[in-house]
Amino acid sequence: MIDSRIQAVLNFVRAGSRVADIGADHGYLSIELVKRGRAARVIATEKNLHPCEAARKNISAAGFGGVIDVRLGDGLQVLEAGEVDTICIAGMGGALIQKIFDDAPEVVQSARQLIVQPMNAADKIRAWLAANAWTIDDEDLAESAGIIYEIISAVKAPDAPKIFKRESSPLLQKFLAQRIDKLERVLAEMSKSPVARASDKFSATQAEIADLRRLCRARVSCYNGGGGVDNA
Ligand SMILES: C[S@@+](CC[C@H](N)C(=O)[O-])C[C@H]1O[C@@H](n2cnc3c(N)ncnc32)[C@H](O)[C@@H]1O
Repeated sequence: MIDSRIQAVLNFVRAGSRVADIGADHGYLSIELVKRGRAARVIATEKNLHPCEAARKNISAAGFGGVIDVRLGDGLQVLEAGEVDTICIAGMGGALIQKIFDDAPEVVQSARQLIVQPMNAADKIRAWLAANAWTIDDEDLAESAGIIYEIISAVKAPDAPKIFKRESSPLLQKFLAQRIDKLERVLAEMSKSPVARASDKFSATQAEIADLRRLCRARVSCYNGGGGVDNA
């Protein structure tokens, strides 16, 4: 049984794709992709030997050794351009995901879909996608062990239909409240220093909180009670 975070990543993969699962760890995403017919073939990469061996063992036990190729190496650097249609990177920080893309531009350019689940800095990933001519065609939220994760799908086509499951997700209000809460704590910390208070980051954080609050208010009943966020 995979958790809802991995499930949400898997949901974005089109049936029959050739998929790269970068930072495959235990290999669960790779295995489910094949088991459910989402992937015709998977290349699972791991930078570290121990998880790489764990992935190989799990994949072999699942009987998918012939369809899932496990490669030890850094990010996309162990792939050739054109080997996959879809690149999934889940469970890593936004800066690392961006670096993995930047380090293998030809492989990224040869794919037709990128699916990412950053552990932080999702906005930086969105900015990177826009700057590199990728169109976000869907986003979703998933909760696992009390944490809400963001999952983003991007495609090459600028006029791709945009679905945005996230907008109708029952987790959205809670996610926005958590994000506001976190940014307010950052702001409170920065307020202690006159230099930090005068910085661009301080005003950008204030602006982001104001935007999120507007979004919350537009969605009617955001946290007049739970979640520690008021409607000021
Ligand atoms: C937190 S785990 C996430 C595993 C899985 N993708 C998931 O979402 O459950 C991150 C994995 O990425 C691997 N990793 C970190 N940097 C990597 C890189 N540059 N290339 C490939 N794998 C990497 C780590 O060894 C670790 O197994």
